[in-house]
Amino acid sequence: MESKMKKYALVTGAGQGLGKAFSYELAKRGINLIMVSLPGENLKELSREIARTFSIDAVCYETDLSVGKNVLELASWVNRDHEVTMLINNAGTGGSRKFQEASPEYINTIIQVNVTATSLLTHQLMPNLLRQSQSYILNVSSMAAFSPIGYKTVYPASKTFIHSFSRGLNAELRGTSVFVSVVNPGAMKTNPEITERVEKQGKLGKLTLLEPKEVAEKSINGMFRKDSVIMLNPFSWLVLSLIPIWIKLPLMTRAIKREIYG
Ligand SMILES: NC(=O)c1ccc[n+]([C@@H]2O[C@H](COP(=O)([O-])OP(=O)(O)OC[C@H]3O[C@@H](n4cnc5c(N)ncnc54)[C@H](OP(=O)(O)O)[C@@H]3O)[C@@H](O)[C@H]2O)c1
Repeated sequence: MESKMKKYALVTGAGQGLGKAFSYELAKRGINLIMVSLPGENLKELSREIARTFSIDAVCYETDLSVGKNVLELASWVNRDHEVTMLINNAGTGGSRKFQEASPEYINTIIQVNVTATSLLTHQLMPNLLRQSQSYILNVSSMAAFSPIGYKTVYPASKTFIHSFSRGLNAELRGTSVFVSVVNPGAMKTNPEITERVEKQGKLGKLTLLEPKEVAEKSINGMFRKDSVIMLNPFSWLVLSLIPIWIKLPLMTRAIKREIYG
């Protein structure tokens, strides 16, 4: 039975970039927040400011989602004390490296945060989401999901996983109270490292550039509209799906190589 307790939206990676924009967008709509980010990054101050500004309840939980046990601990804390009507799996990490020069930690963190944490958190919160009369899962993939890319290798593969996982789960949960959406943003200047990368990618990087605020607003609208795949850049999407892989793969690989080596 649905509880009368307060309802929350859980946002991972809520401290910065797109996750921060998601938190503002949800708070603006009067939705209470559970904000999750890495420890020591001022998440407490941010959650207090958002709670005060929008008169909502915002709690924060600081943890490193690249560690599997932390994801399970987060989920049991949430399930013990909170009713969740929205899960936004936004935390994600990536980068551009020559594969053989990447450290084992770099490769493992991308897979753990992007793939494992998203799958495990979703799995652990499922009973909580299923007992609500209506609930939503929004997974953040990327335009990078639509083509393999040399010098990124693991990141686009992780985002292809997120896209496929979301669509499969959406189909499986048809007829239940949980609706699953996936969004595939293009480039956003969310932090200085990504901003520098986008600048170096030239025209290709700027082709799909959007502000995080706009991405958050459109994604939340799409989620409430129950779009299984949220289209942000229909034109780039069309172009990417029309260009055959033997053209886009070398083209994008060259752009990323330029980003690394100049
Ligand atoms: N920016 C782009 O161009 C772009 C394009 C397409 C898709 N995306 C996707 O959009 C999502 C958000 O990206 P963004 O650009 O906003 O990234 P960002 O500015 O780097 O922010 C990432 C957020 O995730 C959190 N995070 C990172 N590693 C974590 C970990 N191990 N444990 C817990 N939290 C962790 C960070 O926490 P702290 O605040 O504590 O550091 C931060 O809040 C990602 O899934 C990304 O792949 C981004």
